[in-house]
Amino acid sequence: MGQVHVFDHPLISEKLTLMRRADTSSQDFRLLLKEISELMLYEVARDFETKLVTIQTPICEGSFPVLKENFFTIVPILRAGLGMVDGLLELMPFAHVGHIGMSRDEETKQPIEYYYKMPDGFENSVIIVVDPMLATGGSAVDAINSLKSRGCTNIRLMNLIAAPEGVKFVQDHHPDVDIFVAAVDEKLNEDAYIVPGLGDAGDRIFGTK
Ligand code: PRP
Ligand code: URA
Repeated sequence: MGQVHVFDHPLISEKLTLMRRADTSSQDFRLLLKEISELMLYEVARDFETKLVTIQTPICEGSFPVLKENFFTIVPILRAGLGMVDGLLELMPFAHVGHIGMSRDEETKQPIEYYYKMPDGFENSVIIVVDPMLATGGSAVDAINSLKSRGCTNIRLMNLIAAPEGVKFVQDHHPDVDIFVAAVDEKLNEDAYIVPGLGDAGDRIFGTK
C-alpha cells in the first residue's frame, strides 16, 4: 500500500490557511501555492537516491553525494497542477515537465483527458504528478493510469488538499504510489468539492471566476 505523507509543518499550515481564505487574491494564491510546493518538495525528494562523486574542494579532494538519477519529470494535471510547477523547478531546474490535461465533467464528475505531452524517455524517469486538489481521485487515478500504460513505474503524487475519498481511491487503484499532501480535509460535498477546501483551484489560480 502506498504511503500517505501528510505535512504537519507550521509554515505550510499558515500558507495553506491563507490560500483557503475566500478573500485571497489570485496573485497571492499563486505565490502561496508556489511556496508550499517548494516546501513540500523537501519531503517528496527525501528518498531520492544519491551516489558519491570525487571532487576537489579548495582544501582537498573528497567524495560527496550527488543525485544518482538525473531524469525527473514533473507532470502537472492541467490546469491547476501548473500552479505547482514553478516551485518544483526552482529546486529542481534540471527536471523535465510533461503535461496531462484532465477536466471534470460537471454532470458526471468523471475526468476526461484532453491533452497529453511528455518528454522523450520519460518512462524511465522519476515522475512527480502534481495537482492541488485530490477530490474524488478520478483525475489522479486516470492520469496515473495513462502514465503506467506508457511504461512508467516510478510515480509519486503531490497534492495540496485531499478528501479522504480521493486518498482511498488512489490507494485502491495505485497501491505502489506514495501520496504527499499538505492537508486531508473532512469530506466531499454533493458537487464533489472538498470541504472545507479552498474552492476551485484552477479558477483561483487563473482568476477565471
Ligand atoms: C480540479 C483539480 C483536479 C480535479 C480534482 O480540476 O485541479 O484536477 O479537479 O477532482 P477529482 O479528484 O474529483 O478528479 P478541474 O477539473 O476543476 O480542472 P481545472 O484544473 O482546469 O480547473
Ligand atoms: N477541484 C477543485 O478545484 N476543488 C475541489 O474542491 C474539488 C475539485
